[in-house]
Amino acid sequence: MDFKDIIQDIYKNVKAMEDCGALPTYIPDLAEVDPNKFGVHITTMDCQNYGVGDCYQKFSIQSIAKVLSLILAYKLLGAKIWERVDVEPSGNAFNSLLQLEVEKGIPRNPFINAGALVIADILLSELEHPKAEFLAFVRDISNNENINYSSQIAASEKEVGFRNIALCNFIKSLGNIKNNPADVLDLYFDICSLEMHCKDLSELFLFLANNGKKITDKTPILTETQSKRINALMQTCGFYDESGEFAFRVGLTGKSGVGGGIIAIYPDKYAIAVWSPKLNKKGNSYKGMKFLEEFTSVTNLSIF
Ligand code: DON
Repeated sequence: MDFKDIIQDIYKNVKAMEDCGALPTYIPDLAEVDPNKFGVHITTMDCQNYGVGDCYQKFSIQSIAKVLSLILAYKLLGAKIWERVDVEPSGNAFNSLLQLEVEKGIPRNPFINAGALVIADILLSELEHPKAEFLAFVRDISNNENINYSSQIAASEKEVGFRNIALCNFIKSLGNIKNNPADVLDLYFDICSLEMHCKDLSELFLFLANNGKKITDKTPILTETQSKRINALMQTCGFYDESGEFAFRVGLTGKSGVGGGIIAIYPDKYAIAVWSPKLNKKGNSYKGMKFLEEFTSVTNLSIF
């Protein structure tokens, strides 16, 4: 299939549409991003690479990084990780505190903020230099030394991260954070501040379309079973209380971030990254979802 023409056409249509989303204001530096940015990049298992628009401009991947921190923690602890975090969709906003008390500090899944904080806690316990080792892990998966944290975005979020501070302290009080909450939050904010562009993202995540193995030299990042489980979690929980809607409209497994990025994967076929900063009410990129919905409808290349 010639993705170039298809992507160009859909890009043009979606770019011309009215954007009904809004920039996130709760992280001051994200509220300053140019709202008209729009980039797309696809990387396929048969080595096609195509991008359009602002696909080479780096942005803050935010919650998309939660997939990578989960993968590293899963590699370190194996199935024991599920004693600390569940695998059910929450049906609630990504930063909700609601379920934690009744569920005794076990977050519903690793992609809501509560779950990602527990994952950051695991990384702090298991790694000697968590911040450096996590970055090295991400760079290694993609053979890309140009991926970095943004200390500016991390500081911007930290300054006003009262909700995450509350979440982390609450989980600590319920016994499911083992380290000092301030250290867990620092690592969490750094992880969320990772920056990359759509091409980096689609190349990085292609291993999840390849049963957990690197494309270049087939080194396993995850076992096939682990890779299946990560894809399943992205499918059921990757878009928070809009995960059902994403499956319904797009039909791919994926993950979004409040930086306006979405990575979506069709196992055995491709990984596609979209970036458009304005978000819908559930915190997912408005035009990113539109683009992917049209893309899978036109190509007929979706899981469902
Ligand atoms: O903790 C936060 O609120 C952000 N650093 C990440 C949230 C996020 O990306 C949710 N995604 N749609």
